[in-house]
Formats: sequence, structure tokens, C-alpha cells
Amino acid sequence: MSAGNARDAVAAASAALEAAGCESPRLDAEVLLADALGLDRSVLISDPRLEIPAPLARLIGERVRRRIAREPVAYILGRKGFRYIELAVDRRVLIPRPETELLVEVARELPGGARVHDVGTGSGAVALALLDERPDLAVSASDASSEAVAVARANARRLGLDLEPAVLRGMPAGVFDLVVANLPYVADEELASLAPEIRCHEPHEALLGGPDGLDAIRELVAGSPPGTLLAFEHAPQQAAAVRALLEEAETRRDMAGQERVTVGRRPVPLGRTP
Ligand SMILES: C[S@@+](CC[C@H](N)C(=O)[O-])C[C@H]1O[C@@H](n2cnc3c(N)ncnc32)[C@H](O)[C@@H]1O
Repeated sequence: MSAGNARDAVAAASAALEAAGCESPRLDAEVLLADALGLDRSVLISDPRLEIPAPLARLIGERVRRRIAREPVAYILGRKGFRYIELAVDRRVLIPRPETELLVEVARELPGGARVHDVGTGSGAVALALLDERPDLAVSASDASSEAVAVARANARRLGLDLEPAVLRGMPAGVFDLVVANLPYVADEELASLAPEIRCHEPHEALLGGPDGLDAIRELVAGSPPGTLLAFEHAPQQAAAVRALLEEAETRRDMAGQERVTVGRRPVPLGRTP
């Protein structure tokens, strides 16, 4: 039995999502329906008269209702692509963002055998993408949240990548050639202005970084051995403040041309050599 065709279902879902204030209602409707039907989105678009089997109509309805409640598509599907890998994601972790790929690009420049640690690994995005692309690097990872570490660990197993993330706040013991970190950097008072997808569904401990957003970044710098090379993701307007925390600091721009990642060394106190 059929529950109607795909074209009508996409149109109805798209109208409902638009009314709910979703930014890309048609795309979201197509992605949710195609996934429920086990099809590529291009197939759904090229064959709009495709019949929807009745048993799947309930699943589609439930997914559309979740999206109307502004739950991100990645949480509804339970996955998100990042670089060349696909990560399982749920409400325990931040959904990896395209701009974070810049941290992977910075670490990719290291010579073979270099030791890289990813602080605040979340789903494992940066560390796992790096292991996938540069298996010759020694990559480790940690996160203050045990729930995030469970997600990162499961992602590593599923992808067959050798990562054993640790539950740890701040800087781990050890010597690293580079420490990468996409720590929370949203200023507390900005929370109210974030889209409902972020504000109501993503973990606040992955987002909020205190009055100016830089608490976790400052804490990591302070907890690092002098001379440690650090690469931080941050908001464009925080670039100067992050550079001021580091020595030999240099800021890179993301694909949108925004100042997004600052690389520099933990300052060496006067009178000391690293
Ligand atoms: C913005 S999310 C980034 C997750 C992941 N790196 C990514 O880019 O998708 C920040 C992560 O840092 C973790 N975190 C927050 N404060 C931390 C701290 N002081 N030390 C270690 N991890 C921390 C949070 O639990 C969260 O998983």
C-alpha cells in the first residue's frame, strides 16, 4: 500500500518546515525523506512520482515533527559528514561544523610521526579525520565530557581508526608537537540569540565559554607547558584576543574568509627557556 507520492510528501513537509522557521525547508524535507526511503536525494528529486510505502509514512511523519521542533537534521539522521569520514552524532556531542576542518588542515602540515592531541574532541571529528588522512601521525584526544568520549570512542571503532580518547578536562600530561582545540567559545550572553537548533538541542557545555567566550581557551593556555604549539578555533571577533594569549601567533581564515583558527605558542615566562 502507498501513502502518496514523494513529490506531494516533500511539498507538504517543506511547507510545514518553512512555517516552523527552518532555514532550508525544501532541502531538509528532501534529505529526511530520501534517508527514510533509503534513497539518494538525487533519486528522490529525479523521480517525484515515486510512491511512499505506507509503513514508512509514520517514520517520515515522526522525523518531520522532530525537525519542526527545530532539532538539527544531523541529530535526526544520527550522522554528519566531516572531511572524508561520516561520524555518528547525537545530543551528547556538538555537530561538527565545516569551519572546524581548518584545524585538520593545520595539523596536516606536520611532518610524519608528529604527536597531535585534540582537546575537546566531542564526536572525535578532528582527531578521527586526521587519523584517516594522516595515519603516520600519532594522534590522541580527550574531552571533559564522559558522554562525548563515549561517542568519539564508538566512532573510532566504527571507522576502524585507532583512537582511545580520554575523559579529561584541559591539557593532558605528555609532550605534543601540536595541540588542536575547538573548545566552547560562545559568550554566555549570546546564547539567547542562537538559532533554536543550537540553543535548544546542542549541549551547552560544548558551546558556552563564559562572559567573553574565552574561558576554556584561556584555561588550556594556562595549563600548557611553556612553548607548546596550540591551534584554537574561535569566533572571528575573538581572533585578536586569542592572538594576545600566545606567542608567534598567526590567524588563519576559513572558507568564508573569516578569521577562524589561531596558531601560536604558550608564552615562556621571562627568564625561563622552554
Ligand atoms: C565546541 S565542542 C567541539 C567538539 C569537536 N571538537 C568538534 O569540533 O566537533 C567543545 C567540546 O569541548 C569539550 N570541553 C569543554 N570544556 C572543556 C575543557 N575545559 N577541557 C576539555 N574539553 C572541554 C566539550 O565537552 C565539547 O565536547
